[in-house]
Parts: sequence; C-alpha cells; structure tokens
Amino acid sequence: MIIAIDGPAAAGKGTLARRLADEFGFAYLDTGALYRAVGLSVLRAGGNPADAGAAEVASATLDLALLSDPDLRAEDTGNAASKVAALPVVRSNLLDFQRNFAASPPGGAAGTVLDGRDIGTVVCPDADVKFFVTASAEVRAKRRFRELEERGIEPDFRVILADVRERDERDMNRKDAPLRPAEDALLLDTSNLDIDAVFLRAAALVRESLSPQ
Ligand code: DC
Repeated sequence: MIIAIDGPAAAGKGTLARRLADEFGFAYLDTGALYRAVGLSVLRAGGNPADAGAAEVASATLDLALLSDPDLRAEDTGNAASKVAALPVVRSNLLDFQRNFAASPPGGAAGTVLDGRDIGTVVCPDADVKFFVTASAEVRAKRRFRELEERGIEPDFRVILADVRERDERDMNRKDAPLRPAEDALLLDTSNLDIDAVFLRAAALVRESLSPQ
C-alpha cells in the first residue's frame, strides 16, 4: 500500500506521516529531506541554489549522509530546497529514488508513506490513499516560530511569516510539479484541528482502504 501526503511547509504532514507509518508498520520517506539535502549541498559548495548547474550535480550525486546533517532542518536549507525544487533537472534526478522507495520499501515493509508536495500528483499518482494537509499561513508560521523557540533560537515572527508565504508562492507557482491537491486527495485542514484528530481521521481512511467493507 502507498500513502501519499502532500501539503505546504509546516502544515503537519511529517507528524501525520510518521504516526501513520508507526501505526501500520509502513516505511516512511520524507521527500522534502531529499530536496533539502540537494539545497544544503549547493549552499555548502558556495553555490546559488537557483542555479541549475550546481543543483544538477548535487542531485545527480545525492550525498545520503546529508539526510542526517544537523543543518538539514535550518530555515536557510528549507529556502534553498524550495529553490532547487523548482528546477526540472533536480526533480527528475530525484524521481527514481522516490519511486523505488515506494515500490520496494526497506525492510520489506507492507506499505510506504511518502510526504512532500507532488506525491499524489506526480511521484505516485496511483497511491492507494492520498491526503492533502494544509493550514493557514499564519497558523503554520506560528508553529514554525514555536519550533525555533524550542530550539533556543529567538525568531522574528514577521520574517517567519514572510518566509512561509514566499515558499508557498514558489512551491505552488513553479511550472514543474507545482504544489496542489490531487483530485482524489482527502483535504485535511489542520488550522483548527489538533494532530490527534487529524491522525484518527486519516488512520480510519487507511484502515478502510486496507480492508474495504
Ligand atoms: O517539506 P519541506 O519543508 O522539508 O520541503 C522543502 C522544500 O522541498 C519545499 O519548499 C519544496 C520542496 N519539495 C518539493 O518540491 N517536492 C517534494 N515532494 C518535497 C519537497
């Protein structure tokens, strides 16, 4: 079984994906981490993430060790990821890795959960269950703000909100695989729903799909 979860930054996709993977014993792939690794690799080499040449090399020779790098979750890395993700060559270089993971999950798991921006539309259009997790930009910026505070950083809320909006704009308006819900995705708006409620709703749909009545 393949579960596709898409949505904008900080909507709660990752938390939902991890909980579903735990609940059903499925393998989990955070596809944003792949784009982040490419972005980080370009930044570390002193390159410009919007430059196709540098990003092409980084995505063709993806250094998987970067997936556990402490800088992977930094705001700058997220912005660089959003820039390299707009380049068709990068998307095509990362496509096989994602599809192979979905087709042959590590450890022979019975299913996979992939989260990202284009899982239900491009990477796995035949996924068994699709979710589109979203929330208002303000709510997402507040979550990001709290996360950063917990890490001991003193963020500026206006900067975070501007960043969230900028990233939405770039992810939704790029030509190749823009962020949008698949037609058959269940929309989950987490602005006013806590993660437990979102999880229960999503898990019920997965259970139904595993053993239809
Ligand atoms: O989910 P995230 O914040 O870690 O993703 C970082 C960036 O990667 C995001 O701004 C857009 C890009 N991305 C993408 O284009 N397609 C995906 N499937 C996953 C992420």
